[in-house]
Amino acid sequence: MVDIKNLVVIGVGQMGMGAAQVALMAGFNVTLVDIKDEYVDKAYAGIDAGMKKLEAKGAFQGKTAADFMANCKKSTDIASAMKDADLMIEAVVEDMDVKKKVFKTCDDNAPAHCILASNTSTMSITEIGSVTNRQDKVIGMHFFNPVILMRCVEVIYGEKSSDESVNAGMEFAGKLPCLKGERYIAKVLKDGPGFIVNRITAPVQIYQNYVFDKAEAEGKTWEQLDNDSPGGAMPTCVLADFVGIDTLFHGQNYYAKTLSPDFAPGKVVTKMFNEGILGAKTGKGFYDWSKGRPKPDRKAGKARLYKLKYPLAIMLNEGCRVLEEGIATSWKVCDDALMAGMNMPGPMKPNLNNSEKQVEVLNELVELTGKKYFEPCELLKSGKWVEME
Ligand code: NAI
Repeated sequence: MVDIKNLVVIGVGQMGMGAAQVALMAGFNVTLVDIKDEYVDKAYAGIDAGMKKLEAKGAFQGKTAADFMANCKKSTDIASAMKDADLMIEAVVEDMDVKKKVFKTCDDNAPAHCILASNTSTMSITEIGSVTNRQDKVIGMHFFNPVILMRCVEVIYGEKSSDESVNAGMEFAGKLPCLKGERYIAKVLKDGPGFIVNRITAPVQIYQNYVFDKAEAEGKTWEQLDNDSPGGAMPTCVLADFVGIDTLFHGQNYYAKTLSPDFAPGKVVTKMFNEGILGAKTGKGFYDWSKGRPKPDRKAGKARLYKLKYPLAIMLNEGCRVLEEGIATSWKVCDDALMAGMNMPGPMKPNLNNSEKQVEVLNELVELTGKKYFEPCELLKSGKWVEME
């Protein structure tokens, strides 16, 4: 198996920075690459500040932030950065053409043994790798945000990835520290949109779009809609603003192309996207974020549109599809990955004795929304998924 010492991270925004920091903490040599010096400098400064904070908290027995940062290099030139790379992690924007260009340049310049990994949250690893002459060495390595706090890393097989490359990726990811406990490495056996965690949660967005559009048509306010959510979790509209309306819009279009047209963004989300009302990042989305995270006023009353039983049934159905398609072989992996990647209890275990009831809930939802994607899949209907622990 390839001995990984030198890591190159390409695209050091939010995610690339996180991956680079934990790799430095694990003792790897890391080169940060982005398109402009100012972006690389910003990432370097951000990582350095994070390391100093951890040092002050006594997190580095016997070592200093400076010891780790001594192994960190900066570059804006992929070709030269890749010359002695053992592993590359790509975390550039979620755009297939940009990713392909990056992979091509890496392939042309990296040593033959170097593994090329993408942190894409939705896209096909096989397609990204298709531009290279080392498709056996192209894998997915999907981190969750923030990398230092979320334990999950999905390591993904493209159609042509070798076992050796995937195992090397898993071994590497397992060495990366996480402040919230041991890393959970989910082996994703097949390349499918959204892999495991994002795939299971994705179709909830179809329901959310339905609810957003219905609330608007009925003249309900977003505050009322959010009051339908139970306390504790981030309510639907606040969460959509937090994730970013543009991220939702692009993701939904990708799933619409690859999974079902039912994923197409709804009227509300499309209008917000077109008007540049993108949520927390622009200061305005469903809510005004100029004074920080909004808290819906309970006194506004409820819209009585969003029903929690539906997302639960939707996620169970999608978990069964993940098993049916051979993306994972155990329902426990679905639950564990969701907890480690999103701090969200998985839909599988609580439903071990509930398949029949959930099939009814899903049929009711098809009737209500007209969205065929919610039809219960064969594995759920048969109840046989329960045996796939
Ligand atoms: P970001 O926008 O914070 O960072 C992307 C970085 O890539 C920017 O610094 C940009 O300058 C750089 N970049 C763009 N084109 C480049 C090129 N040709 N060469 C080098 N650098 C380039 O984005 P973020 O959120 O870090 O996402 C990056 C990737 O990670 C995307 O594929 C995204 O889907 C995925 N991801 C995002 C998560 C999130 O919660 N934000 C979670 C898991 C995966």
